[in-house]
Amino acid sequence: MTFVVTEDCIRCKYMDCVEVCPVDCFHEGINMLVINPEECIDCGVCEPECPAEAILPDTDDRAEAWLDLNRAYAAQWPTITQKGDRPEDADAWKGVPDKFQEHFDEGAGEGS
Ligand code: SF4
Ligand code: F3S
Repeated sequence: MTFVVTEDCIRCKYMDCVEVCPVDCFHEGINMLVINPEECIDCGVCEPECPAEAILPDTDDRAEAWLDLNRAYAAQWPTITQKGDRPEDADAWKGVPDKFQEHFDEGAGEGS
């Protein structure tokens, strides 16, 4: 079992989750983060920290579609261990539906 980041993270990227993860399993893309399912210890502390409610356990029906994406991009994007500056318009993107299709960017972030 693991936790996964869903499309609610896209363009919000608050990064509060990074600060609490005890095993540094978040990876950074241009406009969202993902969790490495092989490293996540399923502690659950990141889930309530996300202002966008973008993190779900993979036991949640809504998480299933995002598990492969988390696994794939965790292998490509750099590890992020420190919270950076969130996007200036992060609040405006909170809760916007169907962000993946138009706004997902497969580019890697800078990591930290
Ligand atoms: Fe990290 Fe725990 Fe969240 Fe997994 S559930 S990503 S180990 S904080
Ligand atoms: Fe994304 Fe939420 Fe973390 S918006 S960066 S999963 S705090």
